[in-house]
Amino acid sequence: MFSLFHQCVSWVRQKAQNALLAVLAAGPIPKHIAFVMDGNRRYARMNKKIVQQGHSDGFLALRRMLEVCLRLGVQCVSAYAFSIENFKREPAEVDALMNLAEEKLLELCQHGDLLDEYGVRLHIIGRKELLPESVQAVARKAEEMTQHNDRAILNLCMPYTSRDEMTTAVESTVRKALDSDDYSSAEITEKDIDAQMMTSLAKSPPLDILIRTSGVRRLSDFLLWQCCENTQLQFTSTYWPDFGLLEFVPVILDFQRKVWYQQVTARKLL
Ligand code: FPP
Ligand code: MG
Repeated sequence: MFSLFHQCVSWVRQKAQNALLAVLAAGPIPKHIAFVMDGNRRYARMNKKIVQQGHSDGFLALRRMLEVCLRLGVQCVSAYAFSIENFKREPAEVDALMNLAEEKLLELCQHGDLLDEYGVRLHIIGRKELLPESVQAVARKAEEMTQHNDRAILNLCMPYTSRDEMTTAVESTVRKALDSDDYSSAEITEKDIDAQMMTSLAKSPPLDILIRTSGVRRLSDFLLWQCCENTQLQFTSTYWPDFGLLEFVPVILDFQRKVWYQQVTARKLL
């Protein structure tokens, strides 16, 4: 009886979610959304869980939000899974995050799982060589497993910082200019550097929305180059593992309102 009631509630919830997503998908949909998944440890503390559990629940939230984005038709999702600075945390916590990545990355790419179902190509973005060898091997394998998918992109940024990405992009641009036939007259433009950014190499569209959870209003060295004038920055006080559709819907509505407003003002100027 009890389980039948739960099944009914879950069926109704699923139907309501499908209807909501279908209505939202009828409007303009952002091409690229990024998440700064912050607040896992505070969530763990608040729920009397261990830190590792906070990160595991954070992974489930990522899976959930990824599926919502894919069902809406978002082409690219970028997630800040591990900053280069995070290596300074307690070794036990760093190990737990590395184990989580090792365990979950392949699972995500398996035949029939989320990335396969929605045709998502996975890119691990950042200084992969800093990861333990076993995680590097899994990352390579996971990227390989999804390399033929071309309907959407998941950029899992780990270990990543924007300053590192920008330094690497400038370095490659200069190297290319020096290697060119006539390097004395080679000019370096913003477009050249942009083309060498890790997200551009992963064929990501311009960033439309960046969401940071947990009440912190900083970018913390994430996608600084990509947050151009049109990127909508959204901050919410919810801890990442608790982030869900209810907080996400107003963000999409805000994006749609902005697009419609731009269309109306552009028409008035004609
Ligand atoms: C920030 O919260 C979160 C992280 C440093 C890790 C985020 C990683 C995941 C959600 C899992 C990602 C998935 C894979 C496959 C690795 P915090 O630790 O800074 O928490 P706090 O702000 O409450 O201290
Ligand atoms: Mg934090």
